[in-house]
Amino acid sequence: LPHEERVLHCTTAAEVADAIRRLAVRGAPLLGIAGGYGLALAAYAASGEPDQDDQLRSAATMLADARPTAVNLPAAVGRVQAAAVNAADPYPAALAAARAIEREDAAASAAIARHGLPLVPAGARVLTHCNTGRLVSGGEGTAFAIVLAAHRAGRLAHLWVDETRPLLQGARLTAYEAAAAGIPHSVLTDAAAGSLLASGQVDLVLVGADRIAADGSVANKVGTYPLAVLAARHGVPFLVAAPLSTVDLDTPSGSAIPVEQRSAAEVLTVAGRPIAPTGSAAYNPAFDVTPPDLLTALVTERGVLQPVDAQGLAAHCRMEPISVSP
Ligand code: MRU
Repeated sequence: LPHEERVLHCTTAAEVADAIRRLAVRGAPLLGIAGGYGLALAAYAASGEPDQDDQLRSAATMLADARPTAVNLPAAVGRVQAAAVNAADPYPAALAAARAIEREDAAASAAIARHGLPLVPAGARVLTHCNTGRLVSGGEGTAFAIVLAAHRAGRLAHLWVDETRPLLQGARLTAYEAAAAGIPHSVLTDAAAGSLLASGQVDLVLVGADRIAADGSVANKVGTYPLAVLAARHGVPFLVAAPLSTVDLDTPSGSAIPVEQRSAAEVLTVAGRPIAPTGSAAYNPAFDVTPPDLLTALVTERGVLQPVDAQGLAAHCRMEPISVSP
């Protein structure tokens, strides 16, 4: 993408893990969904084998470890594994669990859009980062689901799309989704966000998350933290939208979130061509962590949490879940 839409068929857990590692599938909710189906493929392959449980265990480790930051991945793989291990026939149990994860994510996405819409002022000019639409979701996404709802309600004047260096998820994916939905949008370099915010042309910054720690710290695509600082500096609301499957109460604080470091080549080349002298080193964290005091609010399928802090987040997670029809 954006030039060619190609469907990738994965028929083994190893192929799914490989697709995850090279970002053919990416974005926190979709990593969970793909990981769940990956383990269902492993359950199918192991079905009836004498070492069935061992095969499932090693496939689960391979999938859960394919990327470290989005908690959706190990959580979903663990859930499918538990369903399979406790079942007389692991494959149908694993497949049913994977399908439930996908269905729940679609429902969460719709609820996030519903809860987030009132936070978008009429005529809003929204700035977003990375990609958070249907390409990452069982439904219409997280932050982008709110953008879509605002567009449909006639409240969105413009979408500012950070290109999202180094892999350009904003330029390649979010602009593609915005164009498909007929949303007026402009792509900007990440570095231009500061002067854009200073010029008064942004009413709301809206992003997703890969892992939210118990203290409310948010790991998201690198470049999110500077946006949060800039939004605070310019008095612009900074909203995070994420399903509860992205909240990890077992990770106590932002500094405990594992941040994926990716290859130097992603920074030192553009479209396969070197852009720095041979031998240059690179710093390439895929994510950064935004402390909770920089968040105006967190939108989940259960509603809006404002302010975001440890106590509020724990209570928010204990609220009644939305019901999902089978
Ligand atoms: O490295 P990626 O492309 O998987 O990173 C994705 C993001 O950072 C998204 O913003 C995040 O997963 C939220 S998507 C709902």
